[in-house]
Amino acid sequence: MSKNQSSNASIMKRLEGKVALITGGASGIGECTARLFVKHGAKVIIADIQDELGQSICDEIRDANALCYVHCDVKLEADVENAVNFAVAKHGKLDIMFSNAGTGGRIDAAIQETDYDNFRHVFDVNVFGSLACAKHAARVMIPAKKGSIIFTASTAAVTNGDTPYSYLASKHAVVGLAKNLGVEMGKHGIRANCISPFGVATPMLMSGLGMKDKGKVEEFVCEIANLKGVVLEAEDVAEAAMFLGSDESKYISGINLVIDGGYSTTNVAPREALNKLFS
Ligand SMILES: NC(=O)c1ccc[n+]([C@@H]2O[C@H](COP(=O)([O-])OP(=O)(O)OC[C@H]3O[C@@H](n4cnc5c(N)ncnc54)[C@H](O)[C@@H]3O)[C@@H](O)[C@H]2O)c1
Repeated sequence: MSKNQSSNASIMKRLEGKVALITGGASGIGECTARLFVKHGAKVIIADIQDELGQSICDEIRDANALCYVHCDVKLEADVENAVNFAVAKHGKLDIMFSNAGTGGRIDAAIQETDYDNFRHVFDVNVFGSLACAKHAARVMIPAKKGSIIFTASTAAVTNGDTPYSYLASKHAVVGLAKNLGVEMGKHGIRANCISPFGVATPMLMSGLGMKDKGKVEEFVCEIANLKGVVLEAEDVAEAAMFLGSDESKYISGINLVIDGGYSTTNVAPREALNKLFS
């Protein structure tokens, strides 16, 4: 390998030397991010409740130093505490906490149908899970005076309603948590940000829509999308997480990076009404 080639190879590894913990890393966006982070030189710990699936990704990579799995139900603070301790015991530090585990819960579109148990479950996973990730990441990042905490919120947190109450409210809460955290953590040199994806055909979205065909789900998402001619994939969200986890975003904190092809800035109602009026 020439000198140029070797320096190019090191430029390509955007997370070399970093240690990352990814909740919800056994599937969808989290899995894709784990694979991308490893490719870019990070040491990654997948924390999830789907033990077999999580372990199978690690078995496939076959480098326990680069990728390993820990059981972690983010609803339980002790599990999150254990996952963070596991990362530090194994690799000596934690640079990136990607709090990504989430649930859509059951559909409770009408307020009068709201089921409190479902609402509590969604908040336990999406909000309290994120809170535990923030709390325990901060615990080990503050003494190190560096770190990047990233949350997966949702485009649902920046658009208007028509989404189940529990999910919508929980994702708004995640954005709020990240904003406040970014302020508090600033004095410790730690950054906190959110990413808010539009629809990605992962198991969560597919089961939420009651659809089994990934292609059909992508077709549906493309139909309602603002940006045409492209399909939003888990890789696109993983790339955003990598940017926020890497030193390329060293001065970015407190933002909610919306990955929606402009969906949340559109309002098709006036155009549709005009079309109807003049058709
Ligand atoms: N797919 C989308 O369209 C979309 C859009 C916006 C936001 N999101 C968010 O992206 C995140 C990832 O979801 P995804 O789309 O990749 O779905 P997914 O179902 O593929 O992955 C979610 C992962 O979270 C894990 N998980 C669920 N509850 C958990 C718990 N209590 N403890 C630990 N892990 C748990 C699941 O086991 C799964 O591996 C979620 O926070 C979701 O709300 C998804």
